[in-house]
Amino acid sequence: MSVVILGIESSCDDTSAAVIRDGVLLSNVTAGQAVHEEYGGVVPELASRAHQQNIIPVVDAALRRAGVEQTDVSAVAFTRGPGLLGSLLVGTSFAKGFAQSLGIPLIDVNHLQAHVLAHFVAESGVEPRFPQFPFLCLLVSGGNSQIILVSSYRDMKVIGQTIDDAAGEAFDKCAKVMGLPYPGGPHIDRLAKSGDPLRFTFSKPHIPGYDYSFSGLKTSFLYTLRDEVKANPSFISENLPDLCASLQKTVIDILMDKLSKAAKDLRISHIAVAGGVSANSALRQAFLDYGSKHRCDVYIPKFSFTTDNAAMVAITGYFKYLDGIFCDISLPPYARVTV
Ligand code: KG4
Repeated sequence: MSVVILGIESSCDDTSAAVIRDGVLLSNVTAGQAVHEEYGGVVPELASRAHQQNIIPVVDAALRRAGVEQTDVSAVAFTRGPGLLGSLLVGTSFAKGFAQSLGIPLIDVNHLQAHVLAHFVAESGVEPRFPQFPFLCLLVSGGNSQIILVSSYRDMKVIGQTIDDAAGEAFDKCAKVMGLPYPGGPHIDRLAKSGDPLRFTFSKPHIPGYDYSFSGLKTSFLYTLRDEVKANPSFISENLPDLCASLQKTVIDILMDKLSKAAKDLRISHIAVAGGVSANSALRQAFLDYGSKHRCDVYIPKFSFTTDNAAMVAITGYFKYLDGIFCDISLPPYARVTV
């Protein structure tokens, strides 16, 4: 008998539902929340209210697109954390009610593990190319920058992480200083395409091990702009592509330096990238270049699996279902934790 998992994601500002049958994606529906744009960042209270409005239509659309009845669903997988608590409560409560009403199991999913396991979502008509264990996954998003040693679907160890800002946060904060809309990462990516990445130099951190730091870069970027704007008030608009390209190159150099150090030390030749920042075109190219230079296999997710989505929650739930790992209805969501 086939296993049908309904996945639900509501950890930040995307309400998403997906259906997976026997590991193959049938639907993945996401409603974003434009309401935050005018505030230059996610407003938690507004995010929970928007989730509340979106959750039923999104789940309904995911089931319809999958051609699946509620009674066909074997289990409900939901993001339990980490994330914004008010947002998580919406998805968690919905998942509990849905599972309870149908008398089916409930599966809690760690959002960060789900980003990693997004690489294992199969799609019909697409030749699967799954990472081989063990592999290193660079997880880069608005809230996290981690290097994870992935030994199996369930065995993941964070070997390096940011000690302050995340890479996406650095992109977004620097973008804000340049007057770009939120989230700034995609705008920097677009503008950087016509800029000179070597035009400006910004500071890079010197910290031991595989940990990251982006707060120094953010300050160095801010001070450069402050000093230049004093001399020329049009400095930002006249140099926007070069600023974006130079900033982007610095972030990517920082990310790739530590990742390649870890891969070399641990002798791992399978490298993956995940999370919202993995949509960055220059980071994707840096992975491809790394793969050909070091003769290793690199895994870059489809764009729809880079940002928050329920397909990754459903596939994580599917693996837990196969292992018979379910959760009790009394489990609350959690705001903070690593994999
Ligand atoms: O994983 P994600 O969707 O969610 C959270 O972390 O909550 O990641 C969002 C982050 C934002 O910081 C956004 O600016 C960044 O991913 N991002 C990008 C690009 N697309 C999204 N950063 C750089 N280049 C991109 N193309």
